[in-house]
Amino acid sequence: MSDKQIYKPYENWKEFNIIEENGKKFLELYNYKLQIDETNYIPKAGLLFEEILKEKADGKNVLDLGCGQMGILGLIALHYGAKKLLSVDVDERCIKWLSTIIQENNIKNIRVLKSDMFANIDKKEKFNLILSNPPHMPMKSGKLCDSGGSDGKKYIIEIIKKSFNYLEDNGELNMMMFDFEGTNKSYNNDKSIFELAKEIGYSEIKTIFTFEKDITPGSVTYDCLDYIKKVYPKYNFDMIKPKCNIIINSFRK
Ligand SMILES: C[S@@+](CC[C@H](N)C(=O)[O-])C[C@H]1O[C@@H](n2cnc3c(N)ncnc32)[C@H](O)[C@@H]1O
Repeated sequence: MSDKQIYKPYENWKEFNIIEENGKKFLELYNYKLQIDETNYIPKAGLLFEEILKEKADGKNVLDLGCGQMGILGLIALHYGAKKLLSVDVDERCIKWLSTIIQENNIKNIRVLKSDMFANIDKKEKFNLILSNPPHMPMKSGKLCDSGGSDGKKYIIEIIKKSFNYLEDNGELNMMMFDFEGTNKSYNNDKSIFELAKEIGYSEIKTIFTFEKDITPGSVTYDCLDYIKKVYPKYNFDMIKPKCNIIINSFRK
C-alpha cells in the first residue's frame, strides 16, 4: 500500500509526488524513488536544474558539487543522458544517504565522494559539465547547507575559480545563485560575478535560467532579509511583497 501527497516546491512551478510506503517517505522523480531522511529535507531550488539539464546533459561527464543527501542535480543529469557522474559533498551524512539511494534504485555510472569542494577530486579529472547549487545564503554563520559566508559568495567564488582547471576545453560550469549577489551587475561595491569570471578566463558567461521567487515568512531568505539588504544595499527589494530571482549562470571555459 502506498499513500501519495503532492509536493509543490514553488507556487508558480511544477509539482511532484511524495509517496509513503511501509512508514518510509520517498520523493518520486522520473523512475527514481528517493527516500526522504529523518530531517524531512526535500530538495527545492535544486529541482529547477531540470529546466536546463533536459537540453544539455546528454553524453556529458558531470560533476555535482555539494550534491546533498539526494544528489538531485546529478540524478537529473543522469536521467537526461549524462554518461558519467561524480557526486561530491563535504557532509558524511549526505554521502551515506545518497549511497543508499543509489543502491536501492540500482543507479549506474555514478561515484560518490566525500570532499571539501575540490580537495579530494583527482587533479587529473576533467568534466564536460560541472553543476552546483552551493550554500549561498549571505549569513555570518548557519547550516552547512545554507551558509555562503558573510556575503553569500564564499563558495560561489571558490567554485568559479577552481572549476576552470577541472573543465574540459569548451566544458561548462552551471551554478545557482541569487541575482542580488551581483551576477552581471553588482549591488554593492564588489565586482560582479561575471566580471570576476571573465578575469579568470571563461570565454562565454551568461544567465541561462531565471526563476522569480517570493520571499515568504518562515523561509531562510526571509529570516536573513534585513542582513541581505545591508550587504547588497543597491538591490531593490519590494518590501510589501519581497521577491528575488534564483538564477543559473553558465560559465564556459
Ligand atoms: C544548498 S545545498 C544543495 C544540495 C543539493 N545539491 C540540492 O540542490 O538540493 C548545499 C550542499 O553543499 C554542501 N556543502 C557545504 N559546504 C561544502 C563544501 N565545503 N564542500 C562540498 N560540499 C559542501 C552541503 O552539505 C549541502 O549538501
